[in-house]
Amino acid sequence: MQDSTKDFFASVAKKSNGAELRGDYQYMSADYIVEQNWDAYTGQEHALWRKLYQRQEQLLPGRACDEFIAGLQTMNAAQAIPDFAATSAVLQQATGWTLVAVPGLIPELAFFTHLANRRFPVTVWLRKPEEFDYIVEPDVFHDFFGHVPLLFNPIFADHVQQYGKGGLKAMQLGGLDQLARLYWYTIEFGLIQSEQGLRVYGAGILSSGGELSYCLQPSPSRHLALNVERTMRTLYKIDSYQESYFVIRDFQQLFDYTAPDFTPLYQRIEQLPTLPANSLLAGEVELIPQ
Ligand code: PHE
Ligand code: FE
Repeated sequence: MQDSTKDFFASVAKKSNGAELRGDYQYMSADYIVEQNWDAYTGQEHALWRKLYQRQEQLLPGRACDEFIAGLQTMNAAQAIPDFAATSAVLQQATGWTLVAVPGLIPELAFFTHLANRRFPVTVWLRKPEEFDYIVEPDVFHDFFGHVPLLFNPIFADHVQQYGKGGLKAMQLGGLDQLARLYWYTIEFGLIQSEQGLRVYGAGILSSGGELSYCLQPSPSRHLALNVERTMRTLYKIDSYQESYFVIRDFQQLFDYTAPDFTPLYQRIEQLPTLPANSLLAGEVELIPQ
């Protein structure tokens, strides 16, 4: 095993109180790519995927944004755990992105490098039946169902690539914690305005049975217009529903807000205190979901 992989395991174990990553990291290339090994999935796993898919699918109307629903429909993934190579070929035609199979969470450098090159890493393993409602580490259902549909949207696809490049830059600048908070409140837990009310585009919500309804209730969570500096200062919950959601007007706005050079922003934020997940600052206006 490479030394960088050992360091990565050690840092994950530290952050998660000794819990180990559950993927199989034995047979992979230097950039953490593995074979998906589609034939090895069992009938029970495909059946569990179908159940997860069906539950999420019926929650989408009136909650997920139109762009997500459109992307999902082109993927044809309702019946079984998808073969990444097949989806990848269709996605490449659409937006130039490809999918690569990975054993699970991967180190920042490898992750950002894939995104910067329009490769989306998708975890190969599926959760156990007893994790139907909640899973700690991202599995194939979260990665594929939650993230891949929006990679069919050209603006969002460009945004994720820019985020990957920005991650590589943040590693040099000491801005990773700030950037991770922005990622959390946008790509993972972001909401978007529609004419009918707020809708979801964040993958962490779209792949969650409970949070997809919860996040659009007017309370107890807050709904605030996205402000990049504000989200970069805001701490987040990894083991409960979010206490604040940040709302974009459209994907172009997300792209434009994140396009400027973050170097001065990281420097400024470093001098400022972080904010609790449920903060409401002077002058902030809470949005009403519907
Ligand atoms: N503009 C950011 C920077 O200069 C990079 C970035 C782009 C970050 C898109 C997030 C999303 O570092
Ligand atoms: Fe994710």
